[in-house]
Amino acid sequence: MKGIILAGGSGTRLHPMTQATSKQLLPVYDKPMVYYPLSVLMLAGIRDIMVISTPADLPQFRRLLGDGARLGVRFTYAEQPRPEGLAQAFHIARGWLAGEACALALGDNMIFGDHLSAQLQEAAAREDGASVFAYHVADPERYGVVTMDAQGRAVDIVEKPAVPASNWAVIGLYFYDRHVTEMAAAVQPSPRGELEITDLNRMYMEQGKLHVQKLGRGCAWLDAGTPDSLMQAGTFVQTIQSRQGMLVGCPEEVAFRMGWIDAVALRGHALALGKTELGRVLMQLAEGRHL
Ligand code: TTP
Repeated sequence: MKGIILAGGSGTRLHPMTQATSKQLLPVYDKPMVYYPLSVLMLAGIRDIMVISTPADLPQFRRLLGDGARLGVRFTYAEQPRPEGLAQAFHIARGWLAGEACALALGDNMIFGDHLSAQLQEAAAREDGASVFAYHVADPERYGVVTMDAQGRAVDIVEKPAVPASNWAVIGLYFYDRHVTEMAAAVQPSPRGELEITDLNRMYMEQGKLHVQKLGRGCAWLDAGTPDSLMQAGTFVQTIQSRQGMLVGCPEEVAFRMGWIDAVALRGHALALGKTELGRVLMQLAEGRHL
């Protein structure tokens, strides 16, 4: 399975912070925002990843992430000239995907939780259909909202409903089977002029192929699209990291735990981070002192 990080958009809700840089490169506590969705894709076992951003911002992502060899992964870069919707990612990635299954992660969505890796790997292993995750929120009207029957099957999915039928929002991480490019080609622009991911998900649902996995109370889902949520996300990461002494959203750690880089490479990354706390924890990991 391949993976896409969609890191374009205009980030207007974060102006003026995003006037001269990409939202997904802003810091969330001690790391650039894009590290968090990247770590999630890597935890799902995905090593072949396309980063999509605006023509103006893409060079900065390339500078930050490089070709991926240092993490044991491979990055490919592609431009989205205009933010015409999340499902457009599959038009842009069509040739690169070459009929493979693909996960899509939004560059400003952060997910943390116990047993998350197992859930991610289960979704990645599913060969038929699409898998999405639902999270109970207080303000469902801001998101794609899914309604499920007693067996947990999706019966309805609506983008930003005025009157939401449930409190279950679909988070910005989607797993699709190898039919995704053909399915995405059939999505028509919505009244707001975007190729909506919810329309793609509805197509899978209508074929009885949309798996919805609920994320429980032990999970946190944050999108860092407004000044308040950006601040909350940073505080959340700071709280967990300083209390537990464990890292959140660190691709070097994930690469090491997945066995894609060895302790020598991890030590090199730790040294490169100099005197930072991130470097200190990575060094402990590399030396086997962080169990
Ligand atoms: P949004 O938060 O809906 O849009 P935005 O980032 O442009 O922000 P704002 O509403 O403040 O103007 O986008 C969700 C994520 O998807 C975010 O990471 C940006 C990304 N995105 C794209 O890369 N391309 C697109 O066409 C769209 C609509 C979003």
